[in-house]
Amino acid sequence: MKEQILSLLPADLSWQVHWFDTVDSTNNLAKQMAQQGAPHGTVLIADRQTNGRGRMGRSFSSLGGKGIYLSVILRPQCTAQELMHLTCAVAEAMCSAVENAAGIRPGIKWINDLIAGGKKLGGILTELSVDPESGLVNHAVIGIGINCSHTQEDFPCEIRDIAISLDTATGKQTPRERLAAEMILSLQKMDLQLLSHRDAIMAAYRKDCITMGREVTLLGMEEQRIGTAIDIDRDGALLVRFSDGTVKTVCSGEVSVRGLLGYV
Ligand code: BTN
Repeated sequence: MKEQILSLLPADLSWQVHWFDTVDSTNNLAKQMAQQGAPHGTVLIADRQTNGRGRMGRSFSSLGGKGIYLSVILRPQCTAQELMHLTCAVAEAMCSAVENAAGIRPGIKWINDLIAGGKKLGGILTELSVDPESGLVNHAVIGIGINCSHTQEDFPCEIRDIAISLDTATGKQTPRERLAAEMILSLQKMDLQLLSHRDAIMAAYRKDCITMGREVTLLGMEEQRIGTAIDIDRDGALLVRFSDGTVKTVCSGEVSVRGLLGYV
């Protein structure tokens, strides 16, 4: 598989690609490798994860041979504050990767879910290591999972109604190696533009984000509130207006968002 992926990438690729049959989580392994000094652009792809992780402590179902489970280590030279839009930039990059590989452009459910046919096609988990004194980023681990060739029966019961694979969404088969290669190419492009093209990236994100303009339920720690998602700021925070006219800026770590009629 690694050779098939590499054959679709430029021969002078500066990033290093590692393939694993089974890992607990490519993000966990990437964090270990980053701590041991793995360079910027180290890519880890697994056929299967036994403990795939999502945002807010959730799990990410990672069946063998069916999806792409990929993490990349980046070492941007900036503060964590300057990287607040990272998850949005990755989501945009993944919309382009899927479009290039399979011909459909997913939507984005704020902040990190890729959506096709009203269901979850994939997700993104970004994890930063920051020097507490300087505020500078030591490394970022970006993890992406995309469902590729699953049938609906392949998904665990609890997510069967809300998950979808690329093959089901398009009605045709996209080779996993093609998707993986496009993901790496899009991530490389994103890496080059991340700090210099922030406003353009966020403008594109707002266009692809299907949460914009929708009625949403904010599922917080203590409260549940309904409002309208009216904008996304340049840090990727969601602006939600409530019926009393007040507007709350919601950061991704605090809440998850649901549409009023279901998952999206
Ligand atoms: C989410 O849906 O909340 C995010 C899902 C992220 C899943 C990917 S799969 C590769 C990487 N390794 C993990 O354990 N998680 C990410």
